[in-house]
Amino acid sequence: LQNDIDDHRFGSDDTEIKLALVRSYLTSYSTALAGKFKLWYIDAFAGTGSRTIRHSARLGDFITAEDTPEWIERRPGSARIALDVRPKFDRITLMDAKPRHVAALEGLKAEYPGRDIEIVSGDCNRFIQNEIARANWAGLRAALFLDPYGMEVEWQTLVDIAKTKAIDVWYLFSLEGLYRNAAHDINDVDPKKRAALTKLLGTDAWEQELYSVHNAPGDMFDETPVEERRRNHDVAGLEDYVTRRLRTIFPMVLEPYALPVARKPQRFSLYCMIANDDPKAIGLARRIGDHILKAGR
Ligand SMILES: C[S@@+](CC[C@H](N)C(=O)[O-])C[C@H]1O[C@@H](n2cnc3c(N)ncnc32)[C@H](O)[C@@H]1O
Repeated sequence: LQNDIDDHRFGSDDTEIKLALVRSYLTSYSTALAGKFKLWYIDAFAGTGSRTIRHSARLGDFITAEDTPEWIERRPGSARIALDVRPKFDRITLMDAKPRHVAALEGLKAEYPGRDIEIVSGDCNRFIQNEIARANWAGLRAALFLDPYGMEVEWQTLVDIAKTKAIDVWYLFSLEGLYRNAAHDINDVDPKKRAALTKLLGTDAWEQELYSVHNAPGDMFDETPVEERRRNHDVAGLEDYVTRRLRTIFPMVLEPYALPVARKPQRFSLYCMIANDDPKAIGLARRIGDHILKAGR
């Protein structure tokens, strides 16, 4: 049984909500644009195509006399969801860095003969920056899902996506990754964390923008106050900072959807943003995205 569970277990109801939002967007997107453009779906962190949920065993009670053994449920992940969207995407690219996940994606592809599906193994940042950003975008539009576990998406990748002016993006941003690395005291941010933050945010100005000097009182022998630099943004402030950064490169970034829902601390911000600066494309994406995110709230 263990082998049968392809070990791609993650998430909770929040995963369900995230995937439901993306599924609704993809369906409205392809309904609005099919026939007008060639449509491409790109899943940069595709996983295996499905996810498994382990339901614990339950002892029978006076309503259900029988004991229920542990059972495993398999639900579609983002890749399969996109393959099943109607009208169909003309082309689908599924990427993952983990060889076992790539093998599962090849298996998924085999289930959809006749569809134009490309499986890419390796770091999606490289493929997006080297290949996708250089595609010929005439008559082509894409929806791209960035669903990492943590801080894997490089800022340069977002810059290159924005430059295409043809991609709508859903980005699950790890706010938790940001506040864990951007520690309260700047002295706790070691060089590795600094480099990761700069790669994530696309600038080293975060250090000036997120931290300010506090004068801690001197000790009883030395009256000179000790200079300390501490983060001056709380979790909500950090999210606003990220939104402002994203708005420097994308013509439209909707207010993010907080995950988990109604539980603190917030761990992720789900962003819907579009690269196209045509007012008609912005209007359409805003209508679809606003409607879906509001319904989700
Ligand atoms: C949260 S899971 C994706 C879940 C998937 N979207 C779904 O709905 O089933 C993140 C995936 O990203 C993969 N991954 C991690 N770093 C990566 C990278 N740099 N490039 C591509 N894939 C990566 C992991 O192997 C994992 O399968």
